[in-house]
Amino acid sequence: MSDSKIYEPSAEFSSRAHVRSMEERTELYERARANPEHFWAELAQRELSWFRPFAKTLEWEPPFAKWFVGGKINACYNCVDRHLDGPRRNKPALIWEGEPGDQRIITYLELHRLVSRFATVLKRLGFETGERAIIYMPMIPELPIAMLACARLGITHSVVFGGFSSEALKARTQDLNATLVITADGGWRRGKEVRLKTAVDEALEECPDVRAVVVYKRTGSDVPMKAGRDVWWDEQDEQLKDAPQLEQQAEHCESQDLDSEHPLFVLYTSGTTGRPKGILHTTAGYLLQTLMTMKWVFDLREDDVYWCTADIGWVTGHSYIVYGPLAAGATSVMYEGAPDFPAFDRFWQIVEKYRVSIFYTSPTAIRALVRQGERWPEAHDLSSLRLLGSVGEPINPAAWEWYHRVIGKKQCPIVDTWWQTETGAIMISAMPGAVPLKPGSATLPLPGIVLDIVDSKGEVLGANREGYLVIRHPWPSMVRNVWGDPKRFEEQYWRRVPGSYFTGDAARRDTDGYYWVLGRVDDVMNVSGHRLSTMEVESALVHHPAVAEAAVVGKPHEITGQAVCAFVTLKQGDWNVESLGQELRQWVGREIGAFAKPEEIRFADALPKTRSGKIMRRLLREIVTSNSVTGDVTTLEDLSVVTKLASQHDEE
Ligand code: PRX
Repeated sequence: MSDSKIYEPSAEFSSRAHVRSMEERTELYERARANPEHFWAELAQRELSWFRPFAKTLEWEPPFAKWFVGGKINACYNCVDRHLDGPRRNKPALIWEGEPGDQRIITYLELHRLVSRFATVLKRLGFETGERAIIYMPMIPELPIAMLACARLGITHSVVFGGFSSEALKARTQDLNATLVITADGGWRRGKEVRLKTAVDEALEECPDVRAVVVYKRTGSDVPMKAGRDVWWDEQDEQLKDAPQLEQQAEHCESQDLDSEHPLFVLYTSGTTGRPKGILHTTAGYLLQTLMTMKWVFDLREDDVYWCTADIGWVTGHSYIVYGPLAAGATSVMYEGAPDFPAFDRFWQIVEKYRVSIFYTSPTAIRALVRQGERWPEAHDLSSLRLLGSVGEPINPAAWEWYHRVIGKKQCPIVDTWWQTETGAIMISAMPGAVPLKPGSATLPLPGIVLDIVDSKGEVLGANREGYLVIRHPWPSMVRNVWGDPKRFEEQYWRRVPGSYFTGDAARRDTDGYYWVLGRVDDVMNVSGHRLSTMEVESALVHHPAVAEAAVVGKPHEITGQAVCAFVTLKQGDWNVESLGQELRQWVGREIGAFAKPEEIRFADALPKTRSGKIMRRLLREIVTSNSVTGDVTTLEDLSVVTKLASQHDEE
């Protein structure tokens, strides 16, 4: 809506920003649009440190892109080594706050030492460029250290969020043919230990390719170690001391010269089928765009203390806790625990303690904190903040206004950043010194990003029309492939509108050119900013011996945006429906992870289906949203099923 309230950037903020006015922003955007390859090539030469310059900017054989072809580079070198020659050497790279209150401040020099030592450990264990590692760790500094050590050696990493179950871990380890697993005994979450090594042991029973498991001691709890496979991180590190010469070498472990397109990481994300897909990101293009967005979107300055509250197990943590901030030489805060433990002021306490100046979080976290009231933030000095960010789902204007008023004291611009695991970096966001804000809109595309809104035939739609959001031209940090499944890559993203990237989101552009992202158009739910496929939860449910059929839909939820709602029919048998509901929730937790547990399970005699047998999720969505059914139901097999489901809610 173009008539919504508009927040202009303050003169104070603009005067010191990287991009200071709308004119500057338009000039930059138009320059990129006129000659994208020239635009990106110039930035790549200026902003990245190369071992060998690239010969060609882009090789585009739709849908496969290669950026900065012929160049040799290393992501770890760009995030660590290159900061050691100047004043950044003793600047904090990572400020870490553990859940129980322990803390570590790691300078770039110290990070270099730790990463080099761990890379040496991996080399001594026999791992080489081209292999793949699963990283399954809590939010402790050793997680980015492990990622960077892999990147240093050219080992492709795949971080699996610590909330995923052993089943999910197994599927990812197998799909990737990983040979190495890096983990910890456990981590802390709301005062309880999350046991990680136990899950690894279960997962690896069917992963014969894994040669070694490196275990970091975080909680100190007893874990079984499998002889010949499992080793302790600290013992391996200790062994480097036995040979003094080796110790010196270990601290200067050379980074590998890698191709620009060397696979940096694979991150699994939910698609429209039951099987998650491995999103492949490569080195130079990914690094360039995460770095540029640190400047354009977060307006990074040398003395900023930047905090992104995401978990590194999701793409936000990869791009905006690790690679983007470190490539930019920033001080990046990371926190192990939950926002509400031990109390609802944990975030604000950390902001005050480290004088955080840029704070980036999710609408879910904001809404949860709104509910607790203003006394929690008011108890802390938040005057260090100068910029706020939001990511993961649309932010409702009421939550935006609260964030702006209560946290930002009406002084801090809010960057609402739209992007995806596949895009690697932020695609739509305000440049905060230049672009006036409208609460609820991610505002304008960033330089180099060409967007359109199209209908189901691919025709471009005009202002204020709702349609599919597509990206027109390749960009450096774009997904390169689905690991091991190029066909799926092509079908999923490039078929719907040939030659354009299909985001799977619906959006509208207003008369000022501002984008309003409305949500997914496919069977992907967004729960607390985490992507979850309806089919993934359904296939977990139908594995249970009592379940005949299951249909899952996202239900609007005040805090988490959406919640998982499952409709289930049962096999013949004498089931206790009450205890079965609980059991099925646990079951989904075990199969996928606790965050995927359905909030609501509704038992039904039958599910509404079309004559061809397809479950009509649209109807189920309507039932959970409004408890009524409208629209075309003529293809429905048995309407009484729907009526019964809809009325069931009223009886509860
Ligand atoms: O639907 C969009 C929503 O999150 C999806 C991407 O999820 P994922 O790959 O897990 O990455 C999340 C973090 C980048 C998108 O397709 N989404 C993300 N950011 C926003 C958003 N929806 C609206 N506004 C946003 N700022």
